[in-house]
Amino acid sequence: MHPQPEPDAKHETHSGHDAHPKHEILRVMRPMYARQWLLGAAPRHAVPDEEMPPSTAYHLIHDELIMDGSSRFNLATFCGTWMEPEAQKLMYETFDKNMIDKDEYPQTAELEMRCVHMLAQLWNAPEPESTMGTSTIGSSEACMLGGLALKWRWRERRRQAGLSTDRPNIVMGANTQVCWHKFVRYWDVEERTVPLEGDQVITDPERAAAMCDENTIGVVAVLGSTFTGDYEDVAALSATLDRLQEKTGLDIPIHVDGASGAFVAPFLQPEVVWDFRLPRVKSINTSGHKYGLVFPGVGWVIWREASDLHPDLVFNVDYLGGTMPTLAINFSRPASQVVAQYYNLIRLGKSGYRAIHKACQTVAVHLARQIESIGPFELVSQGTDLPVFAWKLKEQSHWSLYDLADRLRDRGWQVPAYRMPANRQDLIVQRVVVRNGFTCDLADMLVKDIRRHLDWFAAQPGFRSTADGARFHH
Ligand SMILES: Cc1ncc(COP(=O)(O)O)c(C=O)c1O
Repeated sequence: MHPQPEPDAKHETHSGHDAHPKHEILRVMRPMYARQWLLGAAPRHAVPDEEMPPSTAYHLIHDELIMDGSSRFNLATFCGTWMEPEAQKLMYETFDKNMIDKDEYPQTAELEMRCVHMLAQLWNAPEPESTMGTSTIGSSEACMLGGLALKWRWRERRRQAGLSTDRPNIVMGANTQVCWHKFVRYWDVEERTVPLEGDQVITDPERAAAMCDENTIGVVAVLGSTFTGDYEDVAALSATLDRLQEKTGLDIPIHVDGASGAFVAPFLQPEVVWDFRLPRVKSINTSGHKYGLVFPGVGWVIWREASDLHPDLVFNVDYLGGTMPTLAINFSRPASQVVAQYYNLIRLGKSGYRAIHKACQTVAVHLARQIESIGPFELVSQGTDLPVFAWKLKEQSHWSLYDLADRLRDRGWQVPAYRMPANRQDLIVQRVVVRNGFTCDLADMLVKDIRRHLDWFAAQPGFRSTADGARFHH
C-alpha cells in the first residue's frame, strides 16, 4: 500500500490546482528519509495516483537495488561490468537515439557499419569492406540470425535441386548455450546433439560429422564453451567436414558461436585458426557486451560473403534519401551500446584489447592454480583459452560445490556450481569468469574466503549437503 498523504497535505488533489503552495513546498523540502513516500512500502501492484518528487523516486529505487549486490563480485556473468567514464558519458549521451532509425541517425548507422567492417577484418573475412553483418541486442539474437541464414541457404539449394525441405536439422555439441536450444524450437529445426563423453568437455568433430546428412543446415562450433571456457577445435571440425564432403558430397557449413571467444582469440591466440580463414566458416557471432567490453546489450553477427545471407532475410529501410539493408529480429533499441563498442574499438585498438585480455588471463591462471592448491579441487579447465576456468571436487564429501557457492554469497561472491550437460550430468563443476576489473587482489580475497568456508565445513562433520540446488544458471 502506498502511504496516505499526511494531514498537513490534506488539501491536495490529483490535479493539485487547489493545493496550498506552502504545503506542497513543505512536502518536497522535507529531509529525504522523512518524506511520506519513504515511510511506507513502495508501490508494487498499481500505478500510484499521484506524483512523487524525482529525488524521492530515485532514492526509493536506488536503495532497493542495493539488494542486488555488486556486479563486480558476480563471477558467474560473462557480461561487461566496468567501462571507462568517457565511454559511459557517450552512452549517456546516446540513450535517446534509436539504433533502428537509420534515417534519423545516419551517423550512428555509420558507426555500426564501421564496427561490422572492423570485426570482419579481425576475423579475416575475404572482403571485410563489403561483408554483410549487423549489430544485435546480444549473441542470442545474433545466433538466431546466423541459424536462419543457414536454414535459408540450405532450403534454397534443396528447392533448386527439387528435393524436400521438410526436415532441416542442425548439429551442435551438448555444451552449446541455451540460445541454440531456443533456435531449434522457435524456427522448427531438428536438434542433433553430440553428447560429451568421458573427460572430453567439448564437442568431438568426428562424432559431429557422423550426425550430418543431406538435411543438415550446418554445424555450430563454440569458441569458448559456456561451461568451461575451452575453445572447440574449429579447424579440426572443418577438416573432418572436408573429408565428409569428399566421401559423400555433403557440403556442410559451419557457424562459429564466438559469443566470448571471437573477441578474445584474435588478441590472445592469433595463431588459432577458427575464423573466416576456414572457407567452411560461413558466419560468426559475438557478444560485444562480453569480451567486447561493453555493458549489456550488444551483439554482432557477420557473414563470410554476401551470398551466405539469403536476400529474403534482408529488409531495406529509408536512409538519407536512399535505402539501407537491415536484418534484425528486434526493432527498437538504444544506440548507446553500439556507440560504446565503436569507442572501445578505436580507444583500445588491438594492443589495448590484448593488454586487457592478457591481464584477465593472468588473473585467471593465477586464481586457478591457487584454487587447485587448496587440496580438495581438481581443475576441469585452466583459464588458458578464455580467462574462464572450472573445477570439480576430487572426492565426494559431506558438502558439495553448491554448498560452497551458497556460503560464498555471505560476502557477495557469486561463483556458480552446475551440472555438465549430457552425457556428463554426473559431473558437477564450479566456474569463475575473470573479466576486466577483476584484480589479483580480489582473486586472493576469494581464495581466502574459500579456505575459510572449507575450515567451516571441516568443523561441521554433521553438516549435510543440500546437493543439487539448481539455483544458478549459466
Ligand atoms: C557460447 C554462448 N553463446 C551464446 C550466448 C548468449 O549470449 P547473449 O547473452 O549475448 O545473448 C552465450 C552467453 O553466455 C554464450 O556463452
